[in-house]
This record gives sequence, structure tokens and C-alpha cells, in this order.
Amino acid sequence: MSSRSNVLLYLVLAGVAGLAVIQFDRPRLDRPPVTAELQAPPEVKRVLENSCYSCHSNQTKLPWFDQIAPAYWLVVHDVHEARQHLNFSEIGKLPPAQQKAALWEAVNMVQLGAMPLPRYLAVHPDARVSPRDLAVLRNYLHPEGDSARRAQGRGEDRGG
Ligand code: HEC
Repeated sequence: MSSRSNVLLYLVLAGVAGLAVIQFDRPRLDRPPVTAELQAPPEVKRVLENSCYSCHSNQTKLPWFDQIAPAYWLVVHDVHEARQHLNFSEIGKLPPAQQKAALWEAVNMVQLGAMPLPRYLAVHPDARVSPRDLAVLRNYLHPEGDSARRAQGRGEDRGG
């Protein structure tokens, strides 16, 4: 082998060894019991479970590629921070009006494109909130608004 390919081989091995070593640095990611689950209809929860629960609940499920450091470190950090802001596994202890207010904020974050975190979506495209999912959430928060608009015969044109 030329000395150049020796150097290359060395670098690859060093890289693999480095990746292997950092796997031992594993911050804890607890999954505490669900004490007060969000009270919402099943179709609403399905959307949130698909797009938000990995970070904003105690039922975090990580695919294998999230379990490998350094991605793992980032995910654990995001989950801890996300749970502090909004935890669908504990929000059920709030009065219904406050739960709805939290959902209202959540839907706003989705509409702004701020949630799910864009860097998370890049790696987890399935978590994207589709226009249909968004409609489910909005309709739950404003059922009377939508039916009033339908009654007045001017429905679809008022997006946003
Ligand atoms: C990759 C993890 C992750 C996912 C998935 C995720 N979030 Fe977040 N979310 C965070 C983090 C981290 C924060 C706090 C820091 C920030 O605002 O960027 C946050 C903050 C928020 C806040 C702000 C709460 C406050 O008190 O300021 C809301 C609302 C929210 N997320 C809603 C959602 C909704 C709704 C979804 C699903 C559609 C979602 N998030 C998906 C990580 C995530």
C-alpha cells in the first residue's frame, strides 16, 4: 500500500474508534409514567402523537438512528427542553380551558413552521404535520367558527 492510503486507512479507523468511544457517553433519557394525559378526541391525539410526542411527552420513542451519538445527545437535549415547555403526558391535570389554550399555542407554532423543529423534520419526514392534520387540529379548536362560516356559505376562501 502507498503511504497515502495508509494515512487514509488510519483516519478511517480513528474515526470509527472515535464514534465507538463516544457511544459510552449516554445521558439518561427517562420515560416517566404518564400521569395526566391530554384530554382530546382520538383524531386530534393521533396528529400530536405522530408529530409531537417524541419530544413533548413522556412516551418518547427513538428510532435506531437517534440512539447513536452524537445525534443521541442532541435528541436527549431537545426532549428534556421540550418536556419542560409542553408535556402532553402531564397537561391533563390542567383545567380543560387551559389545555385548549396550550393546544392553541401549539397549533400556532405548527402554522408558523416552528414546530416540529425543522432540524428534526429533516431527519424524520414522517413527523410533518400535513395540511389535513392541521385542519383536524384547527377544527377541534374552532368547531363553531367553521360551522358558522359554512352556514354563511363562505367557507374555503378564508384560510390562514
Ligand atoms: C425534536 C423535538 C420536538 C418536536 C418533535 C416538537 N417539538 Fe415543540 N419544542 C421543542 C423544543 C426543544 C422546544 C423549546 C425550545 C424552543 O422553543 O425551540 C419546543 C417548544 C414548543 C412550544 C413552545 C412552548 C412554550 O411554552 O414556549 C410549543 C407550543 C411546541 N413546542 C409545540 C410543538 C408541537 C405542536 C409539536 C408537534 C406538531 C412539536 N412541538 C414538536 C422540541 C420539539
